[in-house]
Amino acid sequence: MLGRISIFCAATLFSSAVLAAPASVAAGKRWFARTCENCHSTHIGVNKVGPSLANVVGRKVASVPDFPYSDSMKANAGAGAGVWTVEALDAYLADPRGDVHGVKMYFKGLAKAKDRADMIAYLKTLK
Ligand code: HEC
Repeated sequence: MLGRISIFCAATLFSSAVLAAPASVAAGKRWFARTCENCHSTHIGVNKVGPSLANVVGRKVASVPDFPYSDSMKANAGAGAGVWTVEALDAYLADPRGDVHGVKMYFKGLAKAKDRADMIAYLKTLK
């Protein structure tokens, strides 16, 4: 019985440690190379399949000049704050093809909150 309780406590401590872990720019950068770079550049004015992600944190949604955004992404620009806040990015990256969000991004999303936090920490460094 006591053994069971300590296993439970260890598991709880472990999961809260994972949740509390600070976001890692380096991990986000690795994720970006693996999952975003094919479609997104990090340089101003360089669009690929997707728009440039330079300065994306705090940027107005669907605001890269000359990028052919989907209608739903453009509609999204008028919704809420219309800005890529950390919260908006977190929701978008969890499910880029969800009802509310742009339909043109063929990417299934980052399921884990920690992976999204790492990614957003990296996106913040893109100036
Ligand atoms: C298969 C190509 C593809 C991949 C992979 C991809 N994206 Fe995209 N992304 C797009 C396209 C296309 C759009 C424009 C969506 C629209 O207009 O509906 C977009 C839009 C975005 C936007 C909105 C930008 C704006 O100007 O409003 C963000 C933020 C974004 N992507 C982040 C990411 C991140 C971070 C990753 C990696 C985790 C990623 N994307 C992976 C193609 C991709």
